[in-house]
Amino acid sequence: MDERGTRDSILVGVDGSTSSLHATRWAAGEAAARHTTVHLFHACVLPALGPHTSAATEAGITEDLVQQGHRWLRQARAEAWHAAPGIDVRTELRVGLPVAELIEESAHARLVVLGSRGLGGFKGMLVGSVSSGVAAHGHCPVVVVRGRMPDDPPPASGPVVVGVDGSAVSDAAVAFAFEEAGLRGVPLVAVHTWVDVSVAETWSVLPFDIDWDAVAEEERGLLAERMAGWQEKYPEVEVRQEVVCDRPVRGLLASAEGAQLIVVGSRGRGTLTGMGLGSTSQALLHHSACPVAVVRPAAGSDVREGG
Ligand SMILES: Nc1ncnc2c1ncn2[C@@H]1O[C@H](COP(=O)(O)OP(=O)(O)OP(=O)(O)O)[C@@H](O)[C@H]1O
Ligand SMILES: [Mg+2]
Repeated sequence: MDERGTRDSILVGVDGSTSSLHATRWAAGEAAARHTTVHLFHACVLPALGPHTSAATEAGITEDLVQQGHRWLRQARAEAWHAAPGIDVRTELRVGLPVAELIEESAHARLVVLGSRGLGGFKGMLVGSVSSGVAAHGHCPVVVVRGRMPDDPPPASGPVVVGVDGSAVSDAAVAFAFEEAGLRGVPLVAVHTWVDVSVAETWSVLPFDIDWDAVAEEERGLLAERMAGWQEKYPEVEVRQEVVCDRPVRGLLASAEGAQLIVVGSRGRGTLTGMGLGSTSQALLHHSACPVAVVRPAAGSDVREGG
């Protein structure tokens, strides 16, 4: 069992859903590769009962919900051991609200892994409130596990893709993506998108004598510069650099076709400080066909907006 505060374990949100079991299996593989513990965690939400409910009924409901939570945790532990025999698994049930409890616990984890959907929500919803809340405000990287549809199993092969916008936050994403590609022994595709007048109609007031080839060259230089030091640190990782003239979400989704993981910073150059998630990261949580890792810089690091 790992010690709290070492930030070494992989925290998994367990709620009895298909999606959270995909997350559990994904996290088990990750824990095996990183030689660390899986911390299966269920936040048990007790309903607010009216004044007409007797104390005995209330105690009975609480007991049932807690027992159900323990059953889900046992089921998840069996799945984790099945996916990665021999790994260390720890289970915990806490009474409280899932977003708040998971965010608090993320301060003691290396990584949080969640399903994209849970038991609640409504049919057709693409990502649940727990996943988006924790991805926005967790204290460590958060992986939301999904396939083409939110409840589909995640793809097991393909490269790792990282979105690079030149901001300090995306540097943290690049670091995480290299680590993941290295652990998985797969290529890393680094994607930088930029926009010209043909895809940004609202910029039509710009002068038309801009040398777009020069701009494209500059963007390629920016990406190469952001990747340079990392390639030296991970010489075994094969890197492909893609500079795409398109809107970020469309460009990233196209480059991530066939990928097994897409890594983005929690916010980019355009987002206001204090906002949890930038629009690109949010849109990827809704539309990616593979797990999405949302990465933020380590606490205390000097993060400046813009790059
Ligand atoms: N009570 C919980 N305890 C621990 N993890 C949870 C809990 N609820 C959800 N999760 C985690 O979050 C993931 C996404 O579930 P989420 O609750 O966000 O979606 P939902 O139930 O479809 O929608 P919503 O709850 O917003 O109506 C789950 O797969 C699971 O990993
Ligand atoms: Mg839910």
